[in-house]
Amino acid sequence: MLLPSYKEARKRSKVLSEKEFYSIDKEFKTIGNNRKYFIKTYGCQMNEHDTENIKAMLEEIGFIEANDYLEADLIILNTCSIRENAHNKAFGMLGRIKHLKQSKKNLIVGLCGCMAQEEKVVDDIMKKYKWVNFVFGTHNIHRLPFILKEALESNNQEIEVCSKEGNIVEGMPVKRENSYKAYVNIMYGCDKFCTYCIVPYTRGKQRSRDKDDILKEVNDLVQKGYKEVTLLGQNVNAYGKDFDYKYNMENLLEDVSKTGIARIRFMTSHPWDFTDGMIDVIKKYPNIMPSIHLPVQSGSSRILKLMGRKYTKEEYIKLFDKIKTIPNVCVSTDIIVGFPDEQDEDFKETLDLVNYCKFDNAYTFIFSPREGTPAAKLKDSIPLSKKEERLHILNETVNKYFLESNRKLINTKVKVLVDGKSEKEGMLCGYTDTNKLINFYADANLIGQIVEVLVTDAKTWSLDGRVE
Ligand code: SAH
Ligand code: SF4
Ligand code: F3S
Repeated sequence: MLLPSYKEARKRSKVLSEKEFYSIDKEFKTIGNNRKYFIKTYGCQMNEHDTENIKAMLEEIGFIEANDYLEADLIILNTCSIRENAHNKAFGMLGRIKHLKQSKKNLIVGLCGCMAQEEKVVDDIMKKYKWVNFVFGTHNIHRLPFILKEALESNNQEIEVCSKEGNIVEGMPVKRENSYKAYVNIMYGCDKFCTYCIVPYTRGKQRSRDKDDILKEVNDLVQKGYKEVTLLGQNVNAYGKDFDYKYNMENLLEDVSKTGIARIRFMTSHPWDFTDGMIDVIKKYPNIMPSIHLPVQSGSSRILKLMGRKYTKEEYIKLFDKIKTIPNVCVSTDIIVGFPDEQDEDFKETLDLVNYCKFDNAYTFIFSPREGTPAAKLKDSIPLSKKEERLHILNETVNKYFLESNRKLINTKVKVLVDGKSEKEGMLCGYTDTNKLINFYADANLIGQIVEVLVTDAKTWSLDGRVE
């Protein structure tokens, strides 16, 4: 048994990360025995991508994917810790699975992802959810076949969570959700320690992936006909800062661009590490999409300081203005309201910033205290009702600008990678270069291609159009 420890997770060693290769012995290949698995994924793109690896590992050892958790012999919850409601959702699902397990005694249940890295969660699983068969963390996904074998062979609850990040594991199999768009990890972990955020504890130290491995993966995707890659990391602009040689996000973007892949996206960008050089590279290469996710979190420099974001409102705006010199660029953001002791004046500054930046998209949240983070210990005199009111006002304000920015596109032509059938009857859907969702009339044989679409109408969260 290996249990999570926040004390360990907080540490940052100077030792450079090493690389190892995934492999499993023949004896593992049949342990799935054609049994069905179902994975429920919560949280960010990183978790979604981890699930793509987990699915492929399971299929390599003989499992097949179920359409629904009710028909599965193995259920894995890949969880997220970012806010309280992510927790609640996962525990709610565990409640439903418990019922299922009562009538299906051979059902195997596992929990992984960021919640598995939390001391309190694992403690609860051991005490109150003894029927959960196994738990593994974000640092040892590649160990799944071994952990699963143990769980299948013993009646004990198998818990294997490492708090210290291990090596970067290359060569894990992957079952991609989409045949045109792919996620590519470029780094793991985060060293920023924003005071409200659990990620540096659940994902460990920042470790950048070797550029040759990234470029090989992108080149393979190009060969297979993929049209878009999203380079993933919690703070992609800090890519390479942990290398003992000079190679950074600017260099990587340029090299990925030269692979010839049609579209490159990257997320998430922390304003702190966004360089002028990156802006120049984005301007220079048309296959780097003019769509930047630049979380601001708050418009009050006082709150930003308490959040440990290391920039002021003025510095953010200066960077924002520079980014806006990229032709046709769209900028989206994340904003937290109700950080401990956020005053009316602080919130007003956030609204002022929104009114200045007129973001093309924004994800807004109420602060959720995460056990073990510094912000969870701060005194907070603001009632929840006040925070909800602020969220409502903020949403009304950001929504107004989404619609405004979408309306500007009416009667223009936009380039769209066609994803598939839209939820709207008879239409297809996809995303523009600037990452706007568009529903449009076109022939279904265009799925997977990049096409020009005439925008005919604009809503707050999407566009309508047709291929002429
Ligand atoms: N690495 C990214 C963010 C990852 S988490 C970055 O630094 O920008 C995604 C978003 O969740 C954050 O941008 C933040 O707005 C929100 N978030 C993180 N922790 C939170 C918390 N404790 N309460 C509410 N929102 C939170
Ligand atoms: Fe969390 Fe900050 Fe790291 Fe983003 S940069 S993952 S908000 S600690
Ligand atoms: Fe959630 Fe972990 Fe991602 S906390 S947002 S799944 S890194």
